[in-house]
Amino acid sequence: MGTSETIAIENAHMPPFFNKIPISIDRGDGVYVWDEDGNKYLDLTSGWGVTSIGHAHPAIQTALTEQAARILQNPNSGLTYSPVRARLLALLADILPANLTRVFFTNSGAEANDAVIKLARKVTGRHYVVATERSFHGRTISTASATGQAKHREKFRPLMPGYSFVPFDDLDAIQSVLNADVAAVIVEPIQGEGGVRIPSEGYLEHVSRLCRANGSLLIVDEVQTGFCRTGPMFAISETKVRADFLTMAKGIAGGFPLGAFAVSEEVSGKLEVGDHGGTYCGNPLACAVAYAVIRYLIDNNISAYVAKLEQYALGEMLRLKEMYPGVLTEIRGKGLLLFMEFRDEAIAARVTDECLCRKVFVRQTQGNGIRIFPALNIEHEQLMEGFAVISQAIELVVKEKR
Ligand SMILES: Cc1ncc(COP(=O)(O)O)c(C=O)c1O
Repeated sequence: MGTSETIAIENAHMPPFFNKIPISIDRGDGVYVWDEDGNKYLDLTSGWGVTSIGHAHPAIQTALTEQAARILQNPNSGLTYSPVRARLLALLADILPANLTRVFFTNSGAEANDAVIKLARKVTGRHYVVATERSFHGRTISTASATGQAKHREKFRPLMPGYSFVPFDDLDAIQSVLNADVAAVIVEPIQGEGGVRIPSEGYLEHVSRLCRANGSLLIVDEVQTGFCRTGPMFAISETKVRADFLTMAKGIAGGFPLGAFAVSEEVSGKLEVGDHGGTYCGNPLACAVAYAVIRYLIDNNISAYVAKLEQYALGEMLRLKEMYPGVLTEIRGKGLLLFMEFRDEAIAARVTDECLCRKVFVRQTQGNGIRIFPALNIEHEQLMEGFAVISQAIELVVKEKR
């Protein structure tokens, strides 16, 4: 099949949810991908924060093929035990915050958030959920209802009842809405889709204390920040945040669709048979891949590596901001979750396009920004190559605007 045929078929047979880029990706290797015509691109989006150890990594290939030759899905699924799932659970127990002792697997991040909102209501007997403005928690009706961005919510009314929003990074605002009806507060440690917004030091610790004092559960959504994306294994790993639920997806299995939620022993003690389930619930194939990916992150000390690259990336972004004042208005980032905010949406769109003309994928986010979130094992030279192209793209766009 050639590019034009692929595009024609997809355009004819998929609903029009995306303004698609007319490039048909055929294969990948590490941080590079190739289109059907053989053109090579640098992927600074890692498939939207998913291919955390790069495309077609040998560890993933081995896990997939070995497990595919054994078993993909158990008889009676979740009713039977799986050594591959058990092995993954034991590994997760080593890396999750110590109070989060139990894990259940889903197929996506939205599904994990959806499940924990449902379970928080059951466990507390309360029904209000507090979320933050600009947050993103998924596209199911309950997670869209918890998402603090009008474009993802308003056209789907009536939404799920009982959700309210407070500004992110505002403790007084949370305190003012916490009452005896609030089942849970759901929050990202760093807002990803919202434009890589990093809260003040200690914000989430305070939120967790306020929740505890109010008898509300804290749901920490680490779908985007988890598995070393921001440096530590989880964004809350080295903090005193006491989450009741922590949700995961994206980087957990390096591109194989998998999500999960972790729950404290205390909250899990209030859950019962029949409260949740699912057809797959951590099928052996997904678990084998996740195990391989997480092992790779640990064995290669990717956490420390990401922290090192963060220094370089922030330095480059700062240099660009100083070169183009008034055009590149703000930079933000933690680990390899990076954001450059431009004066307006048209500039961000042109920079994104110019990067692509130079065969580099970045992600235009929140209109006026671009997000850079490559594979976590990207080589320093490859990241330099990416920034060189971003720099050329900005330079060209700035010249155009003069
Ligand atoms: C913080 C956060 N939560 C939830 C989701 C939804 O995850 P999924 O697309 O796997 O359903 C996303 C996706 O971008 C996300 O960034």
